Amino acid sequence: MPDQFPHGVRGTALWSQVDALLDRRAQEVGQAALDVLDVGGGSGVFAVPLAMRGHRVTVVDPSPNALATLKQRAAEAHVTSRVEAVQGDAASLAMVVEVDSADVMLCHGVLEVVDDPQAAVAGIVACLRPAALASIVAAQRNAAAIAKAVGGHLEEARHLLEDPDGRWGRSDPLPRRFSEVGLTDLLTNSGLVVDAVYGVRIFTDLVPGPLVDDATDVRALAALEATAGRMPELRALAGALHVTAIRE
Ligand SMILES: C[S@@+](CC[C@H](N)C(=O)[O-])C[C@H]1O[C@@H](n2cnc3c(N)ncnc32)[C@H](O)[C@@H]1O
Repeated sequence: MPDQFPHGVRGTALWSQVDALLDRRAQEVGQAALDVLDVGGGSGVFAVPLAMRGHRVTVVDPSPNALATLKQRAAEAHVTSRVEAVQGDAASLAMVVEVDSADVMLCHGVLEVVDDPQAAVAGIVACLRPAALASIVAAQRNAAAIAKAVGGHLEEARHLLEDPDGRWGRSDPLPRRFSEVGLTDLLTNSGLVVDAVYGVRIFTDLVPGPLVDDATDVRALAALEATAGRMPELRALAGALHVTAIRE
């Protein structure tokens, strides 16, 4: 992997969108170091690099194992003083995090696994400062249906498209996958104003790994992904949607 892709080719476009969000908020509040809340931040894949850039990051996650890994990563990166690991649940976030306390909130890969996504979003919004920016990533159903179909699992592909929760069947380990309208409605119903929607993992999930076997290919795939993710007509094929939003 070329050095300019520290987050892997699948994570590069998302990271640049998150960076842009942080830069924008820093300009708005006139401070380089922001209070970032990473809900379901797990082992710190985002939290630790953000703390290394000087932000104060609070990770709330119900998993003690993930939080232990987070603390270890933060220690190894010498950012323990800027990373707070809190055990808690998105739906009752205000019990463990001050209300109106975050400048930027990340909620990546969480809304598809929580018990009640509406309660989770409401819990998160309560902890954002007015005009705070939010970055939400959630699994999208279309890409899962395409993957099932090209794998020959046609019944499961149809089920994914017809099921209200976007699941391929009873043994699907994921509680739900979203349509774009379903996800944006969920957010706007809780007082967030959608700012932009990007597709995440359009071509990175479709192009077979063995075809991307040198640095030139990796760079080309990352550039293709960055362009495609901004195109509304292509983001319906994305494995996940990245929504940026503003607290009213
Ligand atoms: C797929 S991982 C995503 C981790 C991280 N956000 C990332 O993008 O790498 C989902 C995370 O959500 C956490 N989670 C599950 N239920 C949650 C809840 N009710 N509230 C907050 N986080 C939750 C899990 O423990 C796990 O760390």
